[in-house]
Amino acid sequence: GGYITLDSGYKNTGSCESAVTFLDGEKGILRYRGYTIEELAEKADFLEVAYLLIFGDLPKKEQLDKFHEDIKRNSLVDEDIHKILDAFPKAAHPMGVLSSLTSALTAFNPGSVDVTSEQDMYNSVVRILGKFPVLVAWTMRKKSGLPLDYGDKSLGYVENILKMMFKVPNEEYTQNPILVNALDKLLILHADHEQNCSTSTVRITGSSHAGLFASLSAGISALWGPLHGGANQAVLEMLEAIKEDGGDTKKYMAKAKDKNDPFRLMGFGHRVYKNFDPRARIIKKAADEVLGDLGVEDPILDIAKGLEKEALEDQYFVDRKLYPNVDFYSGIIYRAMGIPTEMFTVMFALGRLPGWIAQWREMRLRKEPIGRPRQLYIGETERSFEPISER
Ligand code: CMC
Repeated sequence: GGYITLDSGYKNTGSCESAVTFLDGEKGILRYRGYTIEELAEKADFLEVAYLLIFGDLPKKEQLDKFHEDIKRNSLVDEDIHKILDAFPKAAHPMGVLSSLTSALTAFNPGSVDVTSEQDMYNSVVRILGKFPVLVAWTMRKKSGLPLDYGDKSLGYVENILKMMFKVPNEEYTQNPILVNALDKLLILHADHEQNCSTSTVRITGSSHAGLFASLSAGISALWGPLHGGANQAVLEMLEAIKEDGGDTKKYMAKAKDKNDPFRLMGFGHRVYKNFDPRARIIKKAADEVLGDLGVEDPILDIAKGLEKEALEDQYFVDRKLYPNVDFYSGIIYRAMGIPTEMFTVMFALGRLPGWIAQWREMRLRKEPIGRPRQLYIGETERSFEPISER
């Protein structure tokens, strides 16, 4: 009973107390465990940030080394998961494949569901941090018909991810530090974002005491949609369409403003940032640097810049406080790195993994109750049943 308030889309309703990420949408501030995103993107590496998000403080050298060792020891994936992957058609979207394989991990690690101690939790955390990049790389290799690879334990976490994705048989593989730095930065920028759609999904799924892997699988599905993580793929497809169409950005601006046209300017707008997205600022600069460093000239980048300039000066976008978000420029960097467009949202998932884990762990440690929103019923009042012959 009691009085129920309606808040569609949870625009004003807090679902939990959290000590992981601070976000001020008016001022454009984002901090993980108190550290600004600007400083972390500049100085930290992704595994350090993962540790920080999950355990609350920056690791000392020994702590980080042990964490990395534990992750590496847990990076083997059961060969039968490989068979499940093989059963998917090549054309399957990698996000669907990844959520399925992540869910399947529960079947191969049944002990991971019943989390009763912090040690149980830790074991699940290092397992998924070890296996997830393998699943990501396999998903990409399967699409391009390459044999699956387990990477190289002597490498750093992010270096190893790149090698697992790009190593070609019978060819010498050399690390490109530009790519490593770019991916490190992108993953850090995506690592957490408080109670967004996929993170809320992970927390609410986990609140029923479903295991970590099942909760993450639900989060991956939530991330897939174009209004959330799927935006990075949608942005690139939109920029390509504009280019094919002769580069007429004005036409697409008009479409985005037309209320009878479902088209939205992908990569613009954010539920909480109503001033600017601090991640977008960092990423715009990174896109320039990475393309410059790699010597890539991409006309898509010019279209993106033109579109951004027009939108920032347009009354419709100004009135609604619509600014470029993190995913407006991320796809341009992924593309320059040689990552296929359909894999972009998977890269987002790879970055968001520590955030999802940190939020799930916090939810379990705080012994939060099962998530169960209420509703306002607007359907029929009581009716009596009519036999089928009389309807
Ligand atoms: N293009 C054109 N109009 C837009 C756009 C856009 N990208 N985004 C919002 N609007 C308009 C919307 O039509 C509405 O107008 P009106 O008040 O006249 O009806 C107004 O702005 C407010 O939009 P809303 O849909 O009520 O805002 P929301 O907070 O529910 O949605 C959003 C936020 C991110 C889903 C939305 O801005 C959007 O669809 N953007 C494009 C998709 C995108 O880039 N998503 C990635 C988000 S960042 C990565 C992540 O964290 O997942």
